[in-house]
Amino acid sequence: MYGLVNRAIEEMVCGSQGEETWERIKCEAGVDTDVFIGNQGYDDAITYRLVGAASQVLGLPPERILEAFGEHWVLKTARDGYGELLTAGGSSLSEFLQNLPSLHARINLMFPHLTPPSFSCTNVTAESMDFHYRSKRQGLAPFMVGLLRGLGKLFDTEVYIEHIEARSAGADHDVYHLRWRRTQP
Ligand code: HEM
Repeated sequence: MYGLVNRAIEEMVCGSQGEETWERIKCEAGVDTDVFIGNQGYDDAITYRLVGAASQVLGLPPERILEAFGEHWVLKTARDGYGELLTAGGSSLSEFLQNLPSLHARINLMFPHLTPPSFSCTNVTAESMDFHYRSKRQGLAPFMVGLLRGLGKLFDTEVYIEHIEARSAGADHDVYHLRWRRTQP
């Protein structure tokens, strides 16, 4: 994955636990990279090892780390670094999710070696939808949950997320049934 991802994990851990804990996590993961370069590609194994080591050092299940990382990705990495892309994606959670395919097409222009996930929405109503996430990578379904929670916060919207089909349980791809309620006009 692009170094941007590992750098964002570093920022999240350093921001909440401090740099010493981050150094312990890197040591536990057997990662000796000092600085992750945002637009440089790194082996996916590095990202997975960092998540596994964070789970051990912080005493939290890896799913929790990935969920927290998903929220951090939307509310810090994307909002601070790619605010215009986010704003162009729509003015409500539902609109944004339906526009995600074109957002990722634009991201692909900036990161040509991206292995992008793909998304689609079905059964869309004014306050619910089924959201489909397809990925070439394994094990990132909890990251998607965190991203959805982060987007809910970004759009002042309470989101209820039900993971109705899971690849980890043999389904073709992950499907989340979403219901939402806007908390601000
Ligand atoms: C707007 C700023 C965003 C940027 C710059 C960005 C960029 C990236 C990058 C660089 C990766 C690593 C993939 C690779 O290196 O092959 C990634 C992964 C991913 N992104 Fe984004 N992204 C953004 C927003 C979003 C949003 C809003 C969502 C969903 C709601 C999303 C969903 C994902 C998922 C699920 C992955 C995991 C990759 C996989 O399943 O293979 N991203 N993104």
